[in-house]
Amino acid sequence: MKRIAVLTSGGDAPGMNAAIRAATLIGRAAGADILGIERGYKGLLEDALVPLAPGDVQGILREGGTILGSARCKEFHHREVRDKARENLSKREVDGLIVIGGNGSLTGALHLANPDEIGSGRPLKVIGIPASIDNDLAYSGLSIGVDTAMNTIVEACDKIADTATAHDRTFIIEVMGRDCGYLAMTSAIAVGADLALFPEAGKSEDKIVDQIVNTILAIRKRQSKRARRVLIIKAEGVAVPVERMKTLVDAKLRERTPDAEPSTIETRVTVLGHVVRGGRPSALDRLIGSRLANVAVRALLKGQTHKMAAWMSQVEVPATVGARSPFDPHVWLVDLQAVLAETENLIAGKSPLARWRAGAFEEIEDALLQ
Ligand code: F6P
Repeated sequence: MKRIAVLTSGGDAPGMNAAIRAATLIGRAAGADILGIERGYKGLLEDALVPLAPGDVQGILREGGTILGSARCKEFHHREVRDKARENLSKREVDGLIVIGGNGSLTGALHLANPDEIGSGRPLKVIGIPASIDNDLAYSGLSIGVDTAMNTIVEACDKIADTATAHDRTFIIEVMGRDCGYLAMTSAIAVGADLALFPEAGKSEDKIVDQIVNTILAIRKRQSKRARRVLIIKAEGVAVPVERMKTLVDAKLRERTPDAEPSTIETRVTVLGHVVRGGRPSALDRLIGSRLANVAVRALLKGQTHKMAAWMSQVEVPATVGARSPFDPHVWLVDLQAVLAETENLIAGKSPLARWRAGAFEEIEDALLQ
């Protein structure tokens, strides 16, 4: 393994730079050339590959985003586009590729290194590193960026809680996460929210509205004014748009409390949006990014391929799917194809982990309302 290329793809995540830096330093120390591919698969198609030396990655550890840039590349679904990408890698004599990104990006990696597609072309080994604030990849405890995103949400919600308490108000706060409710669930716990709405619960619009209204009315009966503010965290993946949710909830509140002055019961909404994806990476994201990249490079150097380096899986990893890496006891090397198949189940709310997350949350809902 003489030459390794690294790319970041899909939604950026704080901590990607830590992975780029570690891949460069570890790879170079082992005698390999490291190339950075700019703007993900788009840059690969445009032959935008640049050599990376230790001096290029100095100080990037603390920066959010990714120094290589990122992009979504829908064209990569087409075989002839991947052929072009392989041609560019081959021209640069790249033997190994590290893809840092979410499930779409890792699917691209799997196809790119598919021996059936490569045929008699230059062999390519590939290792994925999960990076997405959504934490929607199977067999991975935490993807790069999740911890920073959670901290950003907690900071924002603590601020909203101040004004909510002062005005005795209800806030519905929408957080990113695409189809996965992980960020909404975990940040609701960390914030001390009164309700979390996530797609895995599979609730209808009517049920969601009733649940919000019941929560608000139960909380508003409390004696202490300080305990009467209501914080509801809504995952982006819950299909009801937040403005529609507000309209329906406000109407039902007026119906159920006809004597209340409408302005005193009206809800407020805040969509945190892309704010959640930015900012300096937390210490944990720097650590996870660095350690995953260390394992990814060492695995490539040992000739491994079609694997993902995963930070402490949350579920038992079947022996057929992967094992603890010999390079770091907290990092597993799991079969990339198996990861992507199980990720589909996770996103559809069908995997054991998704069911456990949803079930565990429903069990604590009543406790929150006491
Ligand atoms: O996958 C990361 C993510 O931030 C999701 O949470 C969100 O749904 C999506 O990307 C937004 O994508 P874009 O930045 O392309 O609008």
